Amino acid sequence: MSSYHIPVLLEESVEGLQVDPSGVYVDLTFGGGGHARAILSRLKEGRLIAFDKDEAATENRIDDERFVLLQQDFRFLKYNLRYLGIEKVDGILADLGVSSHHFDDASRGFTYREDGPLDMRMNRSVRLTAADVLNGYTPEELERIFREYADVRHPRRLVERIVAFREGRPFRTAGDLQEALRSFLRGGAGNKFLSRIFQALRIEVNGEMEALREMLQQVPQVLRPGGRLVVIAYHSLEDRLVKHFIRTGHFKEEETDPFSTEKPPLRPVNKKVIVPSDEEVRRNPRARSARMRIAERIEE
Ligand SMILES: C[S@@+](CC[C@H](N)C(=O)[O-])C[C@H]1O[C@@H](n2cnc3c(N)ncnc32)[C@H](O)[C@@H]1O
Repeated sequence: MSSYHIPVLLEESVEGLQVDPSGVYVDLTFGGGGHARAILSRLKEGRLIAFDKDEAATENRIDDERFVLLQQDFRFLKYNLRYLGIEKVDGILADLGVSSHHFDDASRGFTYREDGPLDMRMNRSVRLTAADVLNGYTPEELERIFREYADVRHPRRLVERIVAFREGRPFRTAGDLQEALRSFLRGGAGNKFLSRIFQALRIEVNGEMEALREMLQQVPQVLRPGGRLVVIAYHSLEDRLVKHFIRTGHFKEEETDPFSTEKPPLRPVNKKVIVPSDEEVRRNPRARSARMRIAERIEE
């Protein structure tokens, strides 16, 4: 499946799961199935339940009786496991974000490199597209997205350009957005800036931060004590959220109460975040921003 997606931190992540050959595992982000195949190869009578909300990923389904692929959002993790009659699992892997396939297929609208439609939906049965965000959100909402998801410190001028453009005609394609932002894109850093803007729209369209929060909250409920959670994140906002949740069991950024007797449900396994080797980044430049964290469910 290497043309669909090259799996990132493959050995390290599957190793991190400590696969028990008779266990039940969950791959929350099936994509091209690279990680799923590696997990399956370590199972005997165990099972692997995979999620992907993008219909295109279902074409990579693995023909194996120990394997189930659900075309579902991982925010419904617990509900789907219960539907399958599964109470607890032995390990959960989440390789967040989009696959290379999303960038390579211009008709999906994830890339600024081609003049595709401003779509960016991973699940094409939902209605909101990136064009809808650009055409319909208030300037304040747009500022929030670019500040939070693209790290633009002062997004007001950027949003003014977007509003001025849409007063003339609605945004339809990636080229429209480039045209609206032309004055911000001069010089060498233009493409980097544009890719951050695209990323911010994608996170909003797919509700990525909300889905991540909802999924993480369910992990302690479905992971058996001793079971492992492995998360690979590709931007700092996601990674910070994962790190904080693993440490504290919640998302509140304020100081944790030092006198609290509440025990976090997870224990970090690796103290330092795990990143791909130089060799992996050379082979697969899309691995560059990957940050992996491993946690273990502790006894209640
Ligand atoms: C980085 S790719 C995973 C690649 C995969 N590990 C492999 O080896 O090919 C992320 C995948 O997760 C899916 N995805 C992202 N967010 C999701 C969500 N909330 N629920 C279900 N699938 C999601 C995307 O459609 C994409 O296929």
